[in-house]
Amino acid sequence: QSQRVTAPQIRLRKGGEPIVVLTSYHTHTTRIIDPFVDCILVGDSLGMVMHGMETTLPVTLEMMILQGRAVMRGSSHALVVVDMPFGSYEESPQQAFRNAARILKETRCGAIKLEGGERMAETIRFLTERGVPVMAHVGLTPQSIMALGSFKAQGREETDWAPIERDAKLVAEAGAFAVVLEAIAEPLAAKISASIPIPTIGIGASPACDGQVLVLEDMLGLSDRVPKFVKRFGSLGDQIREAVQGYADAVRDRSFPAAEHTYGMKKK
Ligand code: KIV
Ligand code: NA
Repeated sequence: QSQRVTAPQIRLRKGGEPIVVLTSYHTHTTRIIDPFVDCILVGDSLGMVMHGMETTLPVTLEMMILQGRAVMRGSSHALVVVDMPFGSYEESPQQAFRNAARILKETRCGAIKLEGGERMAETIRFLTERGVPVMAHVGLTPQSIMALGSFKAQGREETDWAPIERDAKLVAEAGAFAVVLEAIAEPLAAKISASIPIPTIGIGASPACDGQVLVLEDMLGLSDRVPKFVKRFGSLGDQIREAVQGYADAVRDRSFPAAEHTYGMKKK
């Protein structure tokens, strides 16, 4: 655990070399990405990516803990941050602490993430004062989808900036070690990044941020539909289709399994 990146180390990287973050939910993908990233987020996007849910709302604490444990087993370098799911922290600072403590104790991850700015500031302070490192998340907050109506970029009119700026400022003051800015216009992301003392981790929030995060399956080309802000750095979907086609053909024409995949009798 000692050579792992820590939340205070990420905090100190404000304004420095960009912080590289990816999501991961599984041990095998974690083993592959761990050496290349600073931080791995076990995002509640797993509800949509792994389970085909339409939103992140049905995701449970048990699901987050299960995948958090899988990711901790696969990593030794990156800071692992586990999302608190909808309904597990909004009620009170006490509820948030109880569930954050379960996540830390049962996964041994290094930090939790929760959505919300001004409305969560008191909770962020309560958690950080009690030993729970918190990554905040403002701008587009997918757990608020029912209230927002749709997943769309925020702060694209200057008149919408003030509450988002306030959210970012207040989570920093409350003790968050970093804040995710999701789907906000570039000038707003630049203004926030320049004015708060903690690193901003952007997703659809321009290169002005102190770091970037993407959903692994989206950037690998495994997801069918991706938002505008995703760049596909790979085409794993096509590679899987090709491999599975090859397997299906080989089974059907009996070229697989071949002699080298087949057990004979022990030589006496
Ligand atoms: O759940 C998630 O994957 C996230 C990131 C995309 C920021 O919250
Ligand atoms: Na999330």
